[in-house]
Amino acid sequence: MAKKKITTNEDGEENRLVDAGNTTEEQQIELSLRPQYLREYIGQKKVKDNLSIFIKAAIARGESLDHVLLNGPPGLGKTTLSQIVAREMGAKIQVTAGPVIEKPGDLAAMLTNLEEGDVLFIDEIHRLHPAIEEILYPAMEDFELDLIIGQGPSARSVKLDLPRFTLIGATTRAGLITAPLRGRFGINFHLDFYPIEDLEVIVLRSADILKVEIEQAGANAIARRSRGTPRIVNRLLRRVRDFAEVEYDGRITLEVATDALNRMEVDRYGLDEVDRKLLTTIIEKFNGGPVGVSTISAAIQEEKDAIEEIYEPYLIQIGFLNRTPRGRVVTPAAYQHLGFALRDENQPGLF
Ligand SMILES: Nc1ncnc2c1ncn2[C@@H]1O[C@H](COP(=O)(O)OP(=O)(O)OP(=O)(O)O)[C@@H](O)[C@H]1O
Ligand SMILES: [Mg+2]
Repeated sequence: MAKKKITTNEDGEENRLVDAGNTTEEQQIELSLRPQYLREYIGQKKVKDNLSIFIKAAIARGESLDHVLLNGPPGLGKTTLSQIVAREMGAKIQVTAGPVIEKPGDLAAMLTNLEEGDVLFIDEIHRLHPAIEEILYPAMEDFELDLIIGQGPSARSVKLDLPRFTLIGATTRAGLITAPLRGRFGINFHLDFYPIEDLEVIVLRSADILKVEIEQAGANAIARRSRGTPRIVNRLLRRVRDFAEVEYDGRITLEVATDALNRMEVDRYGLDEVDRKLLTTIIEKFNGGPVGVSTISAAIQEEKDAIEEIYEPYLIQIGFLNRTPRGRVVTPAAYQHLGFALRDENQPGLF
């Protein structure tokens, strides 16, 4: 029987800092840079240490790994980690995403196709339809599928046994996961933005794979401007390499990296055009806030979800933006960085 096409290509990366274009070649490169084993996965020490213990224990007991929930901003390595877990468990992985599963039957088909020990990876699990989420509850807890067959008075419910599988859910919005779903994950990890030292190691590792000559100081410059995010570090490395090859002798030095990053308008904090527009708009139009995210969204013409999932987490983490009950507020540090005089306290809006 032909399997329904409800799995997705997990490499649909978003293109921000520069418009890299989503060519097949870029995707191939991205794939070649993806760590395959836990020992190659850089940073996130706490997550790695714990995961490694849980995996060893499960293997020793001959059981499947408990269900895992991974949450954190885009590009920090959730998809990568889920594939690593499957590989370390010696398991097959099926990949899908919340918004792709439209009907209960879609999920039922996927679940019944699983084999003992398999990993089912559901990306953007916070976007599962409630009716579909309900099917997951008994599947996760008792490895049972409750199906209603037929309609009206002749409808009957059937229970099917499922193999013991591991569900790995990934989300950029942990707050949107319902309590019953969250409660069914035995393992729950939050991925944090990476410190510069770790990003530097990632740049050096990727440069090695791509056979790019790079000096430590060049790697450090790229790491510093990558918003704490491995996906961005890898993308910037590839773009800096372009500059190095076209305008220099191919070697990425501090000078080459700095020149390239400046010309791509990625600033010292890794802020790009959209980040600056977001902060500048709040400063200029709303006297620094507080202002609601919907209003910001309309003012800068970026989707509300993108603001909350992609831009804000990093701006909050570096202390440029605060989330308050009354809305978003730009901090003095951001005023300073963007070259604005501190806000006029006589104007409306409070820190
Ligand atoms: N810890 C790591 N060490 C080395 N490289 C990493 C690490 N984490 C992520 N990467 C690199 O960053 C890229 C992006 O990671 P990944 O696709 O797993 O992010 P994600 O969290 O799933 O993002 P999204 O939320 O957008 O789906 C990977 O292709 C990989 O090359
Ligand atoms: Mg992903």
